[in-house]
Amino acid sequence: MRSIINILDLSAGEIDQLIAVADDIMAQPEKYNEVCRHKILATLFFEPSTRTRLSFESAMLSLGGQVIGFSGADSSSAVKGETIADTIEVVNGYADIIAMRHPKEGAPVVASMHTAVPLINAGDGGHFHPTQTLADLLTIHHEKGTFDNLTIGLCGDLKYGRTVHSLLQALSHFSPEFTFTAPDELKMPQVYKDFLKEKNIPYRETSSLTEYLDSADILYMTRIQQERFTDLVEYEKVKNVYSLNSSMLSGVKPSMKILHPLPRLQEITQDVDNTEHAYYFKQAENGMYVRMAIISYLLGKR
Ligand code: CP
Repeated sequence: MRSIINILDLSAGEIDQLIAVADDIMAQPEKYNEVCRHKILATLFFEPSTRTRLSFESAMLSLGGQVIGFSGADSSSAVKGETIADTIEVVNGYADIIAMRHPKEGAPVVASMHTAVPLINAGDGGHFHPTQTLADLLTIHHEKGTFDNLTIGLCGDLKYGRTVHSLLQALSHFSPEFTFTAPDELKMPQVYKDFLKEKNIPYRETSSLTEYLDSADILYMTRIQQERFTDLVEYEKVKNVYSLNSSMLSGVKPSMKILHPLPRLQEITQDVDNTEHAYYFKQAENGMYVRMAIISYLLGKR
């Protein structure tokens, strides 16, 4: 029994193995049709989701398993005041594996103290989103064939963006170079910059989306997350700070790929979707394959 709270709970070797399994699933999906037969996944989503919940559920169904769960705190007994600990103690009796999303940072750690089955963090507040990172890594690996010596631009809400925090940590196993693009209010937290310094991984910071665009191998855009702001006046100041459109791509490397965990607002305009650089919808699809890989791995069905 093992829980995945943070991408650093997986070693570099395990990440490589999961990416390889996801690749194999894409190539030979029929091989995996019965892998989780008679197993049940519980999706406990205390915060809204489209991709993560549906891809977890689709992944388990594609593995021959079954799915139970709820898609909002309002439709669970959390609304009556039930604690996370009690919810998990109960779900232990109903499911073989749990995927949980919660708006509070650290909630999955509390859940992991009570779970009797593998538990996967499907996103906790501004903290971590390890399975999104696996989808990001699979997409990068497909397009670049390596994680080494890539210049990765992370742009947008770098303060609250759990996907960029997890991606940065995962890539620290390799030798990337980062560019952080954010307004002053949403800069990459010092704790992650210190983490990179300790590992001698170079990064540079800017507030201009165009300043380092031409050097990027991957541009990872993110949404400014209204739901994380306590003061909406502050959100209004920064909500439209970046908007990537196709005319801004004229000088970029031909092989540069744009990723985004989605949902997007105005930070990528729709005219970018039809360019050779847009990979965010493929990235969302890849989320299902890596979730198939991690579910079968944690259930010991390799
Ligand atoms: N990328 C992601 O976490 O999307 P959802 O919020 O729709 O699950």
